[in-house]
Amino acid sequence: MIKRIILLCLFLQIVTVKAQTQVTSLTTEGLTNPLGIDNLQPHFSWQLIAKQRNTMQLAYEIKVAESETGFNKDLLWSTGKVISDQSIHIPYGGKPLEAGKRYYWQVRIWDNKGKLTTWSNVAYWQMGLLKENDWQAQWISPGYAEENDRPSPLLRKEFKINKKVKSATAYITAHGLYEAQINGKKIGDKYFTPGWTSYKKRLQYQVYDVSDMFINGNNAIGVMLGSGWYRGYFSLGNFKDIYGSDISLLFQLNITYTDGSTETINSDGSWKSSTGAVRSSNIYAGEVIDARLEKIGWATPEFNDKDWSGVKVQSFPKNILIGTYNESVTRHEKFIPKKIFTTPKGDQIIDFGQNLVGWVTLKVKGEVGQKITVSHAEVLDKDGNFYTENLRIAKAQDIYILKGGKQETFEPHFTWHGFRYVKLEGFSGELKPEDFEACALYSNMEKTGSFTTSNELINQLQHNIEWGLKGNFLDVPTDCPQRDERLGWTGDAQVFFRTASFLRGVNNFFVKWMKDLAADQFPDGSVTHVVPNVLADFERGSSGWGDAATIIPWNMYLAYGDKRILETQYQSMKNWVNYIQSQSKNNLWKQGRHFGDWLFYNVQDDLFGDSAITNKYLIAQCFYAHSVQLLINTAEVLGRNDDVKGYNLLLQEIKDAFLNEYTTANGATVSDTQTSYVLALHFDMLPEKLRQQAADRLAANIRRYDTHLTTGFLGTPYLCHVLSRFNYTDLAFELLLQKTYPSWLYPVTKDATTIWERWDGIKPDGSFENSDMNSFNHYAYGAIGDWMYRVVAGLDIEGDGIGYKKIRIHPHIGGDFNYVSADYKTPYGKLSSNWKINGNKLNLKTEIPPNTVAYINIPASSLEGITESGKNLSASKEIEIVEKKENSIVVKAGSGIYEFSIPYTMKK
Ligand code: BGC
Repeated sequence: MIKRIILLCLFLQIVTVKAQTQVTSLTTEGLTNPLGIDNLQPHFSWQLIAKQRNTMQLAYEIKVAESETGFNKDLLWSTGKVISDQSIHIPYGGKPLEAGKRYYWQVRIWDNKGKLTTWSNVAYWQMGLLKENDWQAQWISPGYAEENDRPSPLLRKEFKINKKVKSATAYITAHGLYEAQINGKKIGDKYFTPGWTSYKKRLQYQVYDVSDMFINGNNAIGVMLGSGWYRGYFSLGNFKDIYGSDISLLFQLNITYTDGSTETINSDGSWKSSTGAVRSSNIYAGEVIDARLEKIGWATPEFNDKDWSGVKVQSFPKNILIGTYNESVTRHEKFIPKKIFTTPKGDQIIDFGQNLVGWVTLKVKGEVGQKITVSHAEVLDKDGNFYTENLRIAKAQDIYILKGGKQETFEPHFTWHGFRYVKLEGFSGELKPEDFEACALYSNMEKTGSFTTSNELINQLQHNIEWGLKGNFLDVPTDCPQRDERLGWTGDAQVFFRTASFLRGVNNFFVKWMKDLAADQFPDGSVTHVVPNVLADFERGSSGWGDAATIIPWNMYLAYGDKRILETQYQSMKNWVNYIQSQSKNNLWKQGRHFGDWLFYNVQDDLFGDSAITNKYLIAQCFYAHSVQLLINTAEVLGRNDDVKGYNLLLQEIKDAFLNEYTTANGATVSDTQTSYVLALHFDMLPEKLRQQAADRLAANIRRYDTHLTTGFLGTPYLCHVLSRFNYTDLAFELLLQKTYPSWLYPVTKDATTIWERWDGIKPDGSFENSDMNSFNHYAYGAIGDWMYRVVAGLDIEGDGIGYKKIRIHPHIGGDFNYVSADYKTPYGKLSSNWKINGNKLNLKTEIPPNTVAYINIPASSLEGITESGKNLSASKEIEIVEKKENSIVVKAGSGIYEFSIPYTMKK
């Protein structure tokens, strides 16, 4: 009996512990157990798991210790109980942090159910090198005379270890790209390191825990370098040596032995250099590997480097070295051949079924000196032949020369390609599918959003949007991944930001990139067209592109709730606005080169409309106002009251000038295009009384084009949002579901697996758009995702609830959808909205994360017949009815899962 009682007690204990709130998902600077943090006040965040509805945090307590088990003594920081519901971005406030040290933290919270949680699991972070002096390593370059093709240098160092290693950390960066090994094994899982930044001002290093990579006795470090962004042939014009002509390494290995002693192995004059199999490597051209020249075992201690050259010690700056902010590029999806075939022209082709960015790994057995060529293409032409004209001068070709004899495996190191098809030359015999694998490479950001519907074409569109992101978030946000560009075009990035922030955790990615934007901004405040800037000095200052300076930080703040982005970017935002002001006369921005509504609906095809050309200065004026508005918002958050006042006056003048210059007395815009109305309405350029008529004109314009959009890069992202705001959601649904050109689904009907740069990359007759500007992987038009997630699924931020502390769930039932389902990992945890039409009922299931509140718009005009989890909504004690509108009832709910059943009549 006693035994039974004990067992029952134990069971009850387990059940109650499970029912209680728990703290989970601890992150430091938005990352799980990161290494190499160089911020002296890193931010802590956590999430709660709560079984009970309406769970909020009332207070928290954080402890920081120097060891995993040291939480009972000598704490670096102990907050005590802090009465606060803040659970994201709490800055460290303890004793000073030291370079290279690892710190451990845990947290517990008090919830609004009167419960104190148990302490969380222990999380850690490790500091990077904080001062120039923390670097003992020296910059080194190969000591031999380089050949013209610049084969990839191999740098190596041998050293002895006679004691037991307790921990070891490697700090690595390069001029160029590096791939490092210890004892023949790759260090870490990252590619294209150290990543791309404004190299002259900011160069990232990476930090690796290499504690387990050593053996007793002789050890070897081997690092191969590639020219990469730093000095390879790159950028519009295919120039080399953009940042410098050297190729160099900085490598520091800090070892701590179990006896407490330490040792540092540094790059210095004692290293050796040579070349190996990688004979040339450039981002656009591809890589040439001659396996006959491979130095087998060069990164292991057994290798004999007697005839290798020494190295040159260089005095390159170390005061620009910074920790790595973003998630580096890693390997992701693998694709096996979908089809292997011969084209009408006789080429041997593999179709991987997906336009992806990365490379092909292949296995081959052949003769010594046999040359294999792998060429890459996104599409086949209408006759089914391999098509590469749209790559412009990017050769996108990997060449492998065989050693012969045994089976050999090849893949490139310092280049990547945007492709779905590869053409193979030089193979003897039949191509076997098992010998080929394509691998996607992109920045390793957490997947945060998903969106599925009952409409397969829309699901494919969503797939294409996601692959647009994957292909173009390769350390920087690029316009395209295949032709001779792959640059951080600012316009493209700002247009796509909100969609991207739903799909992936892009905060760290953009924290880094925004710093580069500011670093490359000109003294007059103008923002360069691409970031990092590698174009000529005059390539700057375009409206809609430079506004990335204001649009991205503000939207980062909304999505992730970290005020620091506004603090660090404030001056840059202000400089951009002041630049526009300096370019304006009588508050009108009518100067300079602007890209305008880039790639809008082709005028030659404009048979049934009145031409979709939007005046570029009208657009500039709208973005001017928008940037000023975002600067005002930011100044308000930061308490810069003088700026709030001053810029509010300016904003009014800009809007007045817009009205005088670009609208008729009846409220038409002078361009009378979709984009002109979209921007004027979205940025509140028109006084209240003129807005609805402008929206009506927009709707009429869309109808004139037989329910088609005509917008380009700048109008497209806001088009459906504006329609929804002015009661035209049904029309927005029609546009979304439109299948003929120009529309989002037209490319889907043409077998697209990514978002195209142009509405008609492949024309209805199968021919291509102009090859000078015809990428099949450009994310900009994927910006419709934001409307699908925020309006169709209805997941949004409410009012000042930045970072989703307050949530708005407002699904829109429409189109031909029977169901729509979206999940999003907010900083507080999972948020979801699933709606489904079930006969004469609409089921709405939603999950709201702990420590947040949500306002839910239920599409109904009366409470009658509405149930939640089977009970009458009107009787619910947990859900508050906030507002009853004509077609929607707004309720307020705390965390938890809610299932509403709502009477529904199918629309005709
Ligand atoms: C890029 C675009 C970019 C544009 C500027 C193009 O070459 O691919 O996406 O924004 O130039 O107009």
